[in-house]
Amino acid sequence: MRTLISGGTVVTATWSGRADVLVDGERIAAVGTDVPTDAVDRVIEAAGRYVIPGGIDVHTHMQMPFGGTHSADDFASGTAAAAWGGTTTIVDFAIQPRGGALREGLETWHRRAEGVCAVDYGFHMIMSDVNDASLKEMEAVASEGVTSFKLFMAYPGVFYSDDGQILRALKRAGDTGTMLMLHAENGIAIDVLVADALAAGRTAPIEHGLTRPASMEAEATHRAVELARLAGAPLYIVHLSAADALAEVRAARAAGDPVYAETCPQYLFLTLDDLRGDGVDGPFAGAKYVCSPPLRPAEHHEALWQGLRGNQLQAVSTDHCPFCFVGQKDLGRDDFSKIPNGLPGVEHRLDLLHDGGVRTGRISVERWVELCATTPAKLFGLAPRKGHLAPGADADVVVYDPRARQVLSSRTHHMAVDYSCYEGREVLGQAETVLSRGSVVVDRREWTGRAGHGQFVARGASTYDG
Ligand code: URP
Ligand code: ZN
Ligand code: ZN
Repeated sequence: MRTLISGGTVVTATWSGRADVLVDGERIAAVGTDVPTDAVDRVIEAAGRYVIPGGIDVHTHMQMPFGGTHSADDFASGTAAAAWGGTTTIVDFAIQPRGGALREGLETWHRRAEGVCAVDYGFHMIMSDVNDASLKEMEAVASEGVTSFKLFMAYPGVFYSDDGQILRALKRAGDTGTMLMLHAENGIAIDVLVADALAAGRTAPIEHGLTRPASMEAEATHRAVELARLAGAPLYIVHLSAADALAEVRAARAAGDPVYAETCPQYLFLTLDDLRGDGVDGPFAGAKYVCSPPLRPAEHHEALWQGLRGNQLQAVSTDHCPFCFVGQKDLGRDDFSKIPNGLPGVEHRLDLLHDGGVRTGRISVERWVELCATTPAKLFGLAPRKGHLAPGADADVVVYDPRARQVLSSRTHHMAVDYSCYEGREVLGQAETVLSRGSVVVDRREWTGRAGHGQFVARGASTYDG
């Protein structure tokens, strides 16, 4: 099957302009103004639209166990929602069971994802038990295309690793050419603040934000950078939320360290005040916004946008980890520390960044593509197969209408969760037609995808050098 995407404005990380894209089977065959148009089976008209590489979300949690429940999207619903929003590859987190092997966790996640995904997927590995055996296993896991490992400085007793474990894992990552990702919050100190709040009878969701101060994210980020420096290994900070932590990343990068960081739409558009609840469901409505690190006061937003412009932040991912308000978030109705942590977001990353970033002039359209597709692909060993539009690359292509108006709502979204963090927000821009490896999965806002089309993508080493 040969498909011509005709008359659009092709946008890459470095260039945008009028060009056609020819897709042959699962791959891009040509991009330009003089691509061969003979023997084409299908033409997609893209005049007035952007033609961009499919989005790559390198931070999702489908069906993730947390606090006695599982995140509400499974791989079928979560990857379909991703596709609706123009994301054609996710990298999810397989979890090593405590006391178990990396391989056990990886096999569980392979079983969950295989045969049900609408778009392609890869895995990082969460190491929740760093010991001689799991450190040794990193190499074998990497050889199977899982080339990045997440450790937690937060959640003592659950996922937490101490500094010695982190240093050992960093050294091993350095030796094996893999990437260590850190959840940088000082979980030991935070747990003291949480216990103090609960002992004083402060149980509402806002306390989640107040007991996880930005200073404890910055402290952990600083420590993470120093440990990576000691190990001589690269480091990726996940879901960076605060100006204070960003300053640590900026300082490390200015010193020449290979330190990278992502932020997420929730840290650009939502605030600590969302945790205070609303007039309809009262203070507990704030549970809808419980994630870690927590949402920050609005003053942090501009610093993060600056970080995105200045490449102190290299990627925007979603940390998609949805829990329904009814039946899941309410596990913590009497105790904020029992509210499952995480927000829905996989569907609207491109739209929020387009509307809040490109439309407002905060970032260029090329930077939007770079942050949402091209750099994540390079950082996590998916390039050159994914993340850009060039001959030979997978034909993961989005025809994006920058003028489409949509109102974000749980009534219309495709994520399997009963609320939206952005309920009623009008945004400009929407994925109109989405191709995953040459197959049209969304056709002018009609679903034409198929559970099982998505394949596991074995990733290589990072090729990012920015
Ligand atoms: O609150 C969050 N971020 N939930 C998902 C797990 C994690 O720490 O990324
Ligand atoms: Zn995390
Ligand atoms: Zn996460």
